[in-house]
Order: sequence, then structure tokens, then C-alpha cells
Amino acid sequence: MTSSEIRRKYLEFFKARGHEIIPSAPLVLAEDPTTLFTSSGMQPLIPYLLGEPHPSGSKRLVDSQPSLRLGDVEEVGDNRHTTFFEMLGNWSLGDYFKVEQLPWFLEFLTKELGLDKARLWVSVFEGDKSTGVPRDEESLAVWQKLGISKERIFFYDVKKNWWSRSGEPSLMPTGEIGGPDSEVFYEFTEVHHDPKFGQECHPNCDCGRFLEIGNSVFIQYQKQADGSLKELPQKNVDFGGGLERLSAAISNDPDIFLIDLFWPLIKSLEKLSGKSYGQDPETTRAMRIIADHLRAAIMIARDSILPSNKAQGYVLRRLLRRAFLFTKKLNFETGGDYFPGFISILADSYDDIFPDLKEKKVQIADAFQEEADRFDKVLKSGIKEIDKTSRIDAQTAFYLLESFGLPFEITEEIARERGQVIKKEDFQKEIEKHQVLSRQGAENLFRGGLADQSYEVTKLHTATHLLHEALRRVLGSHVRQEGSNITAERLRFDFRQPTKLTAEELKKTADLVNEQIAKQLEVTETVQDLSQALASGARAFFREKYPEKVKVYSIGDFSREICGGPHVASTKELGRFRIIKEEAVAQGIRRIKAILENGG
Ligand code: ALA
Repeated sequence: MTSSEIRRKYLEFFKARGHEIIPSAPLVLAEDPTTLFTSSGMQPLIPYLLGEPHPSGSKRLVDSQPSLRLGDVEEVGDNRHTTFFEMLGNWSLGDYFKVEQLPWFLEFLTKELGLDKARLWVSVFEGDKSTGVPRDEESLAVWQKLGISKERIFFYDVKKNWWSRSGEPSLMPTGEIGGPDSEVFYEFTEVHHDPKFGQECHPNCDCGRFLEIGNSVFIQYQKQADGSLKELPQKNVDFGGGLERLSAAISNDPDIFLIDLFWPLIKSLEKLSGKSYGQDPETTRAMRIIADHLRAAIMIARDSILPSNKAQGYVLRRLLRRAFLFTKKLNFETGGDYFPGFISILADSYDDIFPDLKEKKVQIADAFQEEADRFDKVLKSGIKEIDKTSRIDAQTAFYLLESFGLPFEITEEIARERGQVIKKEDFQKEIEKHQVLSRQGAENLFRGGLADQSYEVTKLHTATHLLHEALRRVLGSHVRQEGSNITAERLRFDFRQPTKLTAEELKKTADLVNEQIAKQLEVTETVQDLSQALASGARAFFREKYPEKVKVYSIGDFSREICGGPHVASTKELGRFRIIKEEAVAQGIRRIKAILENGG
């Protein structure tokens, strides 16, 4: 069974059970200030899990969401970790619950995919004293009724059987939602427990015998400011299962790189390098890293991101450079038809869901080639920098990575040649130090971003719509939103505009916004067909793929925009709008920062 067939069967299976098939969100979430990439299917659906009606009108949703997780990037190279993956997802927005979800998933696995029930193991939440969330007896009973024997049902604590975007309850920031979950694992027949992992083997053991293939999260709680968990008004199901892993389970081979979405890529690497996958651990690892990283890089570039030193562009750069390094290890060059060929293979595999990959081939290949050439220069200057230091330690390696983009593996290799050793753990510690800092940054973003939906943020969000329309009226219809980020203190709005705004244009824009505020315009929300909304001139964010039914926010007769909300009820709540900064962010893109003063 091909991966495309699995995806299609999944969507149809849940459609037949009353689910609306919704378009997936982009991998690069330009409108979400809390994160760089979509990393799970539920992420774009948070408002609906919190109780807002979904524009489709349905309480049952299903999709396949391209996702990226960077936490495991160092682990890519084994047989199961990848950065990019597709998450099959289904949701109940306060509709069905455990009694429906668990049997459906089992039916899908055994009847649709033909997996042997005897190879399935499950895990259930054991309960948690500190939060008072009870042991999940209900899921236990459902699994037993479905014929999963007691020996194959394992209970785990908050570390393993609790899901939120931040992890266990103590790590959840205020306002975040989550809940206990129940996972299904596939047991491979040919893999035996590796004694290095201790005597006892169980589904969450890392020995390779088990692979997690699906996770049903029962999202019922929201973290409160005092640290407690409050029950949400509705009980939701948030299911996610990795398409690539399901594909591996069906072929009863734990090596994910053998599935149809990876194998043609590996084949092409074999041809280019003259080496064989599986001939030795180093070659196998290098091929897996190249295949994974280039695939992820292509998916990021597909969303119009270019390698750079910031945000998504930086991640793209890191992935590409690691791939280039391992390309060098396999002893072939990145020039010629390498990138176009690789993209073509991927475009064929994803023709049914990403037909645009074909059209973007040349553009992406050119960007990658440029980056490869740049990397060659970096290698040279990084090596020069190393030549200046007498001792290469973990801190140096981290500095070289951060400042020159020089991958650890290279620094390590050069150090080795000089008879010095950099311990991977020490380097890892440097990275962790850095990650703690950026996580703190991300948490602040979470608190300050749209996700906190505080009144300040809501007001600035409405003001952003006014600003968008005012800019179009003052500068012209070429103005287009490129991005937006809102904290409790200010709004930030990026838009297409070839030239710097004059003082007069800035004043006109701010005056126009303030006039609308003074008019005390009502903000109204309607749900419309996408085509109808676009035909009526509602502003849309061009990079987003919208569902068939969308929410449109109108501010009097002044502005109409497709948007998820939330917004204030009337512009009279906004106080006074003031632009505090105008600057360039990229060629042809300007940025405005603005604040509201004396709001209601
Ligand atoms: N949101 C859940 C996950 O990512 C399903 O595992």
C-alpha cells in the first residue's frame, strides 16, 4: 500500500464517519507568533478546541498536516527519526469522545490498513496526584472490550501519556490546553529487545521493537495562572498519527527510510555516491540525514522561505548545511542536476497533494545551489577561524556553529586531526543552554502573542485590520500583508511596498485609522463561502490556503478581512492609534510598528 493510499483511506474513513475534510495549514505559519513551523495538526485548530465554532460548521474534522519538529534533529540518522513528517489528524470539537475514537482508530488500523491486531500494544494515562487528573479507566475499559489483552496495555505517567504543545502539565504556560492521551504502538516481528535497554521491555522502550503509530489526546484541560488545570467547557479529541510510521508498520520493517516517500531519494543518493544503503553504518546514516534534511528543506522552501540568518530561514539554512556536509562525506558534489533531480523525485511522490512542487522546482533548486556555494565559502573561513585558536572546545564549536554556520561534525573532525577531543555531551550542553534561552523567548512570545487572546492583543488585532485597509487606501492596492505579530504592547505589520513611506503618508495612514476609531464602527463577524468572501472583496492573506467556509470580519464599511479573530465589538474601544516605527525588512517589504493609547 502506498503512502498516498494510506492518506486517502484515512481521510475517507473519517469522512464516512461524519468528519469534514479540511485543508491543511501551511508548514510555515506566518500568522502564528508562537512558533516558526506547524508541528502538529491541532495547532491551527486551537480556537475551535477552545469552543469557537469551526467555520465549516462541523464538530468533526479530519486532515493530513505537513509538520516539522526540530527537537530530534540530532537523532535523525537512526531508522525512525525525521524532522518533516505528515500527521494524519482527526478531531472531535466537543462531540464524540473516547468510546468512539479508540474503536475507530483500531478499525482503521486493522480493517483499512490490514495491520495484525496481535502486533498492537497500547498505553493509557495512569493518573497524576499533583494535578488531580484521574487514571484513565475509561480508555482501559474500551481497549479491553476491543480485545487488547491486559498484558499489552501499559500505564504511564504525565511524562509519557500527557500531551500539550509544551509537554507535561507543569511545563504548560497559562492558557495552554492539553490532556491525557492513549497511544498505539506497532511491534515489529523481526526486531528483538536490545539488552542494553535493561531487562524489562515495554512499548515506550527505545530498543526499536515498538513504534508509536498514533496518539489520541483527550484535550479537556486548560492551564490556569495559579498553576492548576481547569476543565474546558467541551471535551475534545485530538488525534495525530505519523503517515510515514504507519507506512513502515504496514511493511513490517522498522526502517522508515525504506518506505515509498523516502526510498526513491535514497536510491538517487546511491547512484550519485556509488555507495549502497546499508553497506556500513556511516553511509546509511549519511544517506538518511541527507534524505530527511533535503526533504524538510524543500517543504520549507515550498512556502517561499529562503535560507537566511533569521527565524524559518535560519532553520532552512541549518538543515541544508547539515545535508551538504553529509553529501561531502559521501564524496560527491552538490552541483549539476543534484537539486533539480531531488526535487523532481519528491514532486512525483507528492503530486496528489503538493502539485505546486513541480512549478517551484527551478526556484528552489537555484536557492539551494546558491546556499551550497555559500557553504563552501563558510567552510573555508570557518577553517581559517579554527586555525587562529590553539584549543578547540565545546564552546568554540558552538561559537563556530552560531557565527559561521560551521556544523559540529566538521569542527569535531578538524579537532580530531589535531589530536584534540570535543565531547559531544559538552557540545550538547552548550546547545541546551541556548535552547533554554530560546524556549524562554518562545514562552514569552506565547504569553504575548495572539495565543493569549488578552484584551490588549485583541484590540491591537482589530487595529491591524484598520491599518491594513488604511495603507491600501493611502498607498494603493499593491499593499499586501506579508506578516503580522502582536504582543500586548504593540502591533507589527509587514506589507509589500516598494518605497519608504514619507512623513505625509504615515500621517495620512494614522489619521485614517483614527477617523475610523472616532466613528465608533461596529465589528461584525460572518461565516461565508470562501468564493463569496473573495468576490465581495474581503482581504485574504495570499499565502494561506483557506477552507471552503471562512470567517469574515467587517469593521463598519471600512474593512473586510478573512480572519480567525478574536476582535473587539466596536472601534470605540481602541483609544488612539499611533505609529511608532516604519522600516524596511526585506527588498520591497516594509514594516510598521504601532501602539494604542488611552484605550477603553
Ligand atoms: N497533537 C497530538 C500530537 O502531536 C496528537 O501527538
